[in-house]
Amino acid sequence: MASTEDKAANKENVSSWKDSIYNPRTGELLGRTASSWALILLFYLVFYCFLAGMFTLTMWVMLLTLDDYVPRYRDRVPHPGLVIRPNSLDIFYNKSDPVKYAEHVQNLESFLQRYNDTEQEKNEDCRQGEYFEQDNTEEMTKKVCRFKRGSLSLCSGLSDTSFGYSEGKPCVLLKMNRIIGLKPRGDPYINCTVKKDTPVQMQYFPSEGRIDKMYFPYYGKKAHENYVQPLVAVKLLLTKEEYNKVLSVECRVEGSDLRNNDERDKFLGRVTFRIKVVE
Ligand SMILES: *[C@@H]1O[C@H](CO)[C@@H](O)[C@H](O)[C@H]1NC(C)=O
Ligand SMILES: *[C@@H]1O[C@H](CO)[C@@H](O)[C@H](O)[C@H]1NC(C)=O
Ligand SMILES: *[C@@H]1O[C@H](CO)[C@@H](O)[C@H](O)[C@H]1NC(C)=O
Repeated sequence: MASTEDKAANKENVSSWKDSIYNPRTGELLGRTASSWALILLFYLVFYCFLAGMFTLTMWVMLLTLDDYVPRYRDRVPHPGLVIRPNSLDIFYNKSDPVKYAEHVQNLESFLQRYNDTEQEKNEDCRQGEYFEQDNTEEMTKKVCRFKRGSLSLCSGLSDTSFGYSEGKPCVLLKMNRIIGLKPRGDPYINCTVKKDTPVQMQYFPSEGRIDKMYFPYYGKKAHENYVQPLVAVKLLLTKEEYNKVLSVECRVEGSDLRNNDERDKFLGRVTFRIKVVE
């Protein structure tokens, strides 16, 4: 008796389980009628179309307000890194072997093409010691302050085409990375030191390694197309005692509010490179 009752109950269970997927009596699928499902699908379709529409509209409005000439959403101006030319942090060469330093000399020469005095004549002769601000000009393209390679004197590659490499007194050029809107306070200059007991003599061009304020601010790639970064050249006046030794030279931007001692970023406002000259 009990067993037939069980079987009946079992049958009931199975059919109600099947019914929960598809109930042929009511035509319900997963507990909903076809029209109910259609309504749900329709609701989601409309809902997602609406979301996509909203997204497209906001994007479109935002893109309309963007201007190629004016960078937007700058909450703070980052600090610039310092880089050197020749483009190598290990400048090791044999001063008696021009093939060994030709690469560095070519690197400097091609880098300085943009600073050709004839090219730079076209740019503005700006007032020294003052920012060259052009926020209120009608012009979309900003003017550029001239920086002639001639001002690098012995490191210009004009009087000495080997940039001092052949005489064992090599020049290294330093520049700060371009940062839009950067206006360094104070009077920035480059100071290089060699980690060594006896100091190594150096010459700076322009004098005292000064970076003039007139080259700031920079207005961006498009607005300030022909902008040239100010350069500082350092000529290491090495003597025979300093040959055949790896010298570690550290250069920093000093005299301004630019950071040069960030623990995590070794290139922020400073750079360390190695030099070794052999005969
Ligand atoms: C440097 O080059 C000169 C000339 O090629 C050569 O005589 C000299 O041995 C080289 N010095 C070193 C340390 O390789
Ligand atoms: C820059 O000047 C040098 C030497 O005066 C010359 O050889 C070179 O062709 C010039 N380059 C440009 C781009 O004017
Ligand atoms: C350059 O840096 C060295 C080492 O930090 C320092 O002793 C020297 O006074 C600095 N020179 C100038 C002109 O700031």
